[in-house]
Amino acid sequence: MAPGIIEETPVSHNLSTNQQSFPKQSFPENADHEDYARSLDAQDPLRRLRERFIIPTKASLKRKSLVSSTVADSSEEAVYFCGNSLGLQPKCTARYIQAHLDTWASIGVAGHFTQLESSPLKPWQSMADFAAEQSCRLVGARPGEVAVANTLTVNLHLLMASFYRPMEKRNKILLEWKAFPSDHYAIESQISWHGYDPKEAMVLVEPDQDHIISTERILCLIDKHADDIALVLLPGVQYYTGQLLDIARITSHAHSKGLLVGWDLAHAAGNVPLKLHEWNVDFAAWCTYKYMNAGPGSIAGLFVHERHGKVEYAEGSDQPVFRHRLTGWYSGDQASRFQMDNKFRPIPGAGGFQISNPSAIDLTSLCASLSVFEETSIERLRQKSLKLTAYLQHLLLKDTSQSDEGRPFRIVTPLDPSQRGAQLSVLLKPGLLENVAVKLEEAGIVVDQRKPDVIRVAPVPLYNTFRDVQLFVRVFRQAVGH
Ligand SMILES: Cc1ncc(COP(=O)(O)O)c(C=O)c1O
Repeated sequence: MAPGIIEETPVSHNLSTNQQSFPKQSFPENADHEDYARSLDAQDPLRRLRERFIIPTKASLKRKSLVSSTVADSSEEAVYFCGNSLGLQPKCTARYIQAHLDTWASIGVAGHFTQLESSPLKPWQSMADFAAEQSCRLVGARPGEVAVANTLTVNLHLLMASFYRPMEKRNKILLEWKAFPSDHYAIESQISWHGYDPKEAMVLVEPDQDHIISTERILCLIDKHADDIALVLLPGVQYYTGQLLDIARITSHAHSKGLLVGWDLAHAAGNVPLKLHEWNVDFAAWCTYKYMNAGPGSIAGLFVHERHGKVEYAEGSDQPVFRHRLTGWYSGDQASRFQMDNKFRPIPGAGGFQISNPSAIDLTSLCASLSVFEETSIERLRQKSLKLTAYLQHLLLKDTSQSDEGRPFRIVTPLDPSQRGAQLSVLLKPGLLENVAVKLEEAGIVVDQRKPDVIRVAPVPLYNTFRDVQLFVRVFRQAVGH
């Protein structure tokens, strides 16, 4: 068992919510026919966005040697439902990266500040700000509340260095029982770094039933530990179950008790609409390789609410007053960065949480993927996502003669669309996973597995189709003998 205290308690709380309810989607009797799936695709106003991506083919998935993605491949397109783990490559990424390489090759160090005509790229020194600005609308932030830097766990550490300031009795961090291991380790190590015992200082929220954690349970635990919690750190969308937490309500409740709240948005950014500013979130961090399609391990994002990012100078003083954080030269004002005078002038806002010179090649890849998001809005993507995932749920559960007990699998993600993003996690009866994995692979269908019995299936509205869903369910049903 992981270290920490596992607790529970019941009371009722009324606060604003981000779990807006949606009308139930209904599907006709012939919903599982190819023609019906194709008709939904034909009506999809976002269908052209799929053309912005390189869709792996059945043949390319099996390759054992490197072949350029520009080589024509007549094999059938695969069904890629793994955008919750690694998003597909936008076609423009290669062009952006080539532009970066050409800039570096032709003008060398001047690439830091020179805007080349006809380049899709900003000068390297402006790219992080540009990517941060474009990310704001994906996460509902005001200008200056987002920075692009480092990677997710590193950012969680940096943010905890600023927002987790344990004092005597108030030293605990509230997290979930099945936090992503990297978050669990990061929290554990922050606690011991401050000289406390993780076994006592990690307060783990347990699920109510099955794998789902109710908002009530979180609020009650906050009440119970209000005097000894220093920080609440939770996932926006839980990686294993795909549950979307009520960020607005939990944040507001924790604030009413004087607590700070941070969110790991790895599975939420680019997946569901977020309003981090409006919800008063203290801080958040996310990676960009899942629903944001910037490529494996690419540069990450972070949010710091504007009230925590202020930098003030008392009249007549050149000593900045600002929230403590770990710093480096990139946390400081760009205009004086190269004066090398060791006078630190923090960048106001989230930008002040950057530390080092960011990787331009990473930023290039992120800028390419953000350019695709610029063609639409997260709200429109969510509209399609709600339909795609509802369709997936409908086809999986279509056979109404079977109860949950009668079926060889069960959806553990909430069936209420307001409590989930794109992903459905399907728990198989013991012993089925291997065969299902083989059958899906043979059919050129990519999903991800969490052993021993779960597959996570994420139809992504940017590039997946209703036909993808219909194909997947057909093969899946055969594989589980249903
Ligand atoms: C919820 C969550 N948190 C943290 C991480 C770790 O991310 P990174 O390795 O980019 O720090 C992941 C990676 O998949 C994740 O899903």
